[in-house]
Amino acid sequence: MTQLPAAHTHAADAAAAPSRSGRPTAADHPKALYGGTSTRRVTVRDLATAKERGEKWPMLTAYDAMTASVFDEAGIPVLLVGDSMGNCHLGYDSTVPVTMDHMTMLAAAVVRGTRRALIVGDLTFGSYQEGPVQALRSATRLVKEAGVGAVKLEGGERSLAQTEAIVQAGIPVMAHLGLTPQSFNTLGYRVQGRGEEASHQLVRDAKAAQNAGAFAVVLELVPAEVAAEVTRSLHVPVIGIGAGPDTDAQVLVWTDMAGMTGGKTPRFTKQYADLRRILGDAAREFAGDVVGGAFPAEEHTFH
Ligand code: KIV
Repeated sequence: MTQLPAAHTHAADAAAAPSRSGRPTAADHPKALYGGTSTRRVTVRDLATAKERGEKWPMLTAYDAMTASVFDEAGIPVLLVGDSMGNCHLGYDSTVPVTMDHMTMLAAAVVRGTRRALIVGDLTFGSYQEGPVQALRSATRLVKEAGVGAVKLEGGERSLAQTEAIVQAGIPVMAHLGLTPQSFNTLGYRVQGRGEEASHQLVRDAKAAQNAGAFAVVLELVPAEVAAEVTRSLHVPVIGIGAGPDTDAQVLVWTDMAGMTGGKTPRFTKQYADLRRILGDAAREFAGDVVGGAFPAEEHTFH
């Protein structure tokens, strides 16, 4: 991949766009994660200062260099090489079969495809549950071989020792709470943190992750009110997916966001494009041209 455009253009373009209300917002700050003027790689420290400023920011998943370069040019400050690659890229029906070999290869591609975004790589199912030594080995591999700037793991209190060990080694950790897809055999795919006991446990998990040194917490599929309380109680950024409007950031799986995912998508996603239809139309048009003899034409032909 040698032709990736320099990422500096997107930040300047985004900065030039006026805010919708015409009034200055946190996104108009020169250091804004989205829309700011900085062209260097985003760091976890930048995310901390965005929370202090009250700036909301977007995060997307990415699984390959070319798609990642598009999001990087669009100014998305954080890209997650999620184990959702199992469903969205590798053809599995869950995240469980994804291995650290898959993750390392695709995370390295995403790092190579980007200039500015902070790249977070997931620790895959079975790569950290045994304990801190295994967790640190997996996290170290992702940093050394793929070049990610941070890793994500599922669990708060239950992953405390793992989080501490990785953070102490100097690797930033993002914790994933609420619906944790690697545990779907226990939890199913339903809203988590409903009811008094479950919501208190969620707050405890979030605080445990923060105290263990996590730089951010993802909350997936939890009631908006609980997510708002967690966001207020933590000094580190909270990133929501299906967690209502009050978290510091929002993440979507890119194939859902862009309309690539086939079939039904969860209610909490929003589709901003219809890429599956567009790609299908392009493929059908190409096939029609080949079958009908319209492609290749003279201008595509060497003599
Ligand atoms: O793997 C993934 O894409 C994720 C997001 C849903 C947060 O963990």
